[in-house]
Amino acid sequence: MKIIHISDIHFTIPGERMGGLNPHKRLAKALADVNENHSDAARIVITGDLTHWAEREAYDALHEVLAKQTVPVRLMIGNHDDRSIFLSVFSDQATDELGYVNHSEVVGDSTFIYLDSTQPLTHAGHFGADRCAWLEAELQQAEHARIFLHHNPMEIKLPAEDQIALVAEDRLLFKDLLNTYRDRIDYIHFGHVHAPIHGTYCGIPFASVPSTCNQSYPDMKEAKLLAGGPMEPAYHVLLIEGRETIIHQIPFNWDGPLFASGAEWEDWSKPVAAE
Ligand SMILES: [Fe+2]
Repeated sequence: MKIIHISDIHFTIPGERMGGLNPHKRLAKALADVNENHSDAARIVITGDLTHWAEREAYDALHEVLAKQTVPVRLMIGNHDDRSIFLSVFSDQATDELGYVNHSEVVGDSTFIYLDSTQPLTHAGHFGADRCAWLEAELQQAEHARIFLHHNPMEIKLPAEDQIALVAEDRLLFKDLLNTYRDRIDYIHFGHVHAPIHGTYCGIPFASVPSTCNQSYPDMKEAKLLAGGPMEPAYHVLLIEGRETIIHQIPFNWDGPLFASGAEWEDWSKPVAAE
């Protein structure tokens, strides 16, 4: 099974840039690459920061773009989004009983759990007792689960970025759940950090995906200001077989040369006439 993971597309009102980049062109390029090379994917999952300034026109533009996709798309919101405006534009979006954009579905033989880790007027993540109760009920029913959310639910040891991770008190609640149900959680996928970060947490592998727009730079000393720039964007292709996962990072915006070479040993021999 193939899944496409895209994040932090930061849509604007069409015509407006964000951080010097055109988020509409970037997503269009990413989706064109998906459609050309991965139209066999089972889902496109976009883990939040769907817009940058949470304007209705930006959500309308995204709705129009995604309506043309043949691969089913699943959406989460991030710290730059507005839940109520998002839900008013994406009116068929599933939510939990409390109105959070928490939802789940069985894809293949795995339960995909999509979380809402946002709170108004803060860039930090929140996933308190009420949302943890919903997540626990989902995990109790799942044989195998895969969690998608916007915020990193753990510190990533970048002091400035860790200011806006899932807040400390909610990290503890979330960690308890992960420790209790880790045997049935195959992977955690998130965005928010605009960088590829991989590791394990509570014994569960995790991966974040770069943004389709600006990237962050891993400054391990700076405590306050986030570092970033227009480095190469990417999306992830998840290849899932049972409980096994392979992740390929696709630099969809690369327009430089690609060199073709064979895999036979002789191809690596230095030519006699080499200079
Ligand atoms: Fe973002």
